[in-house]
Amino acid sequence: RAHTRNLRRLMDERLPEHVVTLLRDIGDLGDELGYAVYVVGGFVRDLILRAEENLDVDVVIEGDGIRFAKALSKRWGARVRIHRKFCTAVVIFPDGFKIDVATARTEHYEYPAAMPIITLGSIRLDLLRRDFTVNALAIRLNRRSFGKVYDYFGGQRDLKEKIIRVLHSLSFVEDPTRAFRAIRFEQRFHFRIDSFTLNLIKNAVKKGFISKLSGKRVFNELYIIFSEPNQIGVLERMAELRVLQAVNPNLPPIDEMRRLFRNIRGVMAWYELLYREEPVEEWILYFLGFIDKLHDQQAKEFCEYLKITNHVMQKVQAARNGYKLIERPLYEKLPDLQNSDIYHVFHHLPIETILFWMAKTRQEFVKKAVSTYLSKLRDVKPEISGNDLIALGLRPGPLFQKLLVQVLDARLNGEVATKDQELELVKRLVLTVESPGKS
Ligand code: CTP
Repeated sequence: RAHTRNLRRLMDERLPEHVVTLLRDIGDLGDELGYAVYVVGGFVRDLILRAEENLDVDVVIEGDGIRFAKALSKRWGARVRIHRKFCTAVVIFPDGFKIDVATARTEHYEYPAAMPIITLGSIRLDLLRRDFTVNALAIRLNRRSFGKVYDYFGGQRDLKEKIIRVLHSLSFVEDPTRAFRAIRFEQRFHFRIDSFTLNLIKNAVKKGFISKLSGKRVFNELYIIFSEPNQIGVLERMAELRVLQAVNPNLPPIDEMRRLFRNIRGVMAWYELLYREEPVEEWILYFLGFIDKLHDQQAKEFCEYLKITNHVMQKVQAARNGYKLIERPLYEKLPDLQNSDIYHVFHHLPIETILFWMAKTRQEFVKKAVSTYLSKLRDVKPEISGNDLIALGLRPGPLFQKLLVQVLDARLNGEVATKDQELELVKRLVLTVESPGKS
């Protein structure tokens, strides 16, 4: 039976040694405390799929998960963060590695109409509460059965047949965000959603479960979608199943997003090749592409619904104002656009705003300006500083800033190239500033 499959070898092959060591130790601790312990969920799925390394270790304990987490952290000199209400904990190791520890549980009603209280439950019930068969696999960690697969719902078969399938018909009622997850996994792994599950998704849309989701939860799903490759594939499928229309009926057909998404991908590939070291919140670019065709008022309301943070909102607003902040000021300087003009247009803008506008614009001069700015101008600085001005006998004041900007501009435009030339320039500038005042 599939039940008796053992993944010990696969684990040794695929996982870093320190992770295997840790998993074995978790099993041993389970033995000491008399608990059955398992690693579950996406970790197991990705191991069996031999997918990209996934070290999100979710451990489930048949026993007191909090007691287990405390004991584990003691053994390893790790910190532990406890969520008593959910009987879960996060163990944070000295090197920053984290694992989630949960108590196998089921909602259990002591008396009719009583509040559900959490009781110790079996791994099977814990797995039954999960989203899809492929995410409902567990691997036992206790020493005697280390590596043994627990597959109650046909997860291994569905992994082999590449199917996303719910465990029961109420799955999307329990948690409508699973509709997003189903589509995301389908696109990520090139699986297909089985027809029963597909109908449940359509039904969840029809019944309004998706449109009633809180913006925060929807945002969380969108954030993950835009952080993964093949965003457009996911959006297409969401549109096909009308999940997208349930999220926001004002969004345009996917065809109208496609050009922009392709350009964003191109711009990012270009940017990463050249400037990989600076971090970019890439998902913001795709989010911008997603809401690009909304009117300002619609975009504003949508962002408010999603509870977008101020930090992100600033980047979004700047990008949506790209015409006014980037395109027009550059245009007005044509035909002899100088490097210093380019610099001053871009240097106070977030990198996401600049890259988004490079993807969106149809104007060659804008694309060229972005390219010049990012490749040549962004890090240009004068060699002299305020101290050099003091050494020239100038008194610190508002004039300093003006002089330094003029030196910077001269540098950007190739008019000065050395510190001496900068000092010469300052002297000339001071003369022209001072002499009219004296006469
Ligand atoms: N899960 C669930 N229902 C949800 C979210 C999560 O049943 N709405 C369960 C699944 O068993 C999942 C596990 O919780 O495998 C962990 O969730 P999460 O870390 O969000 O997902 P992963 O499956 O690990 O996927 P990813 O690779 O995208 O992180």
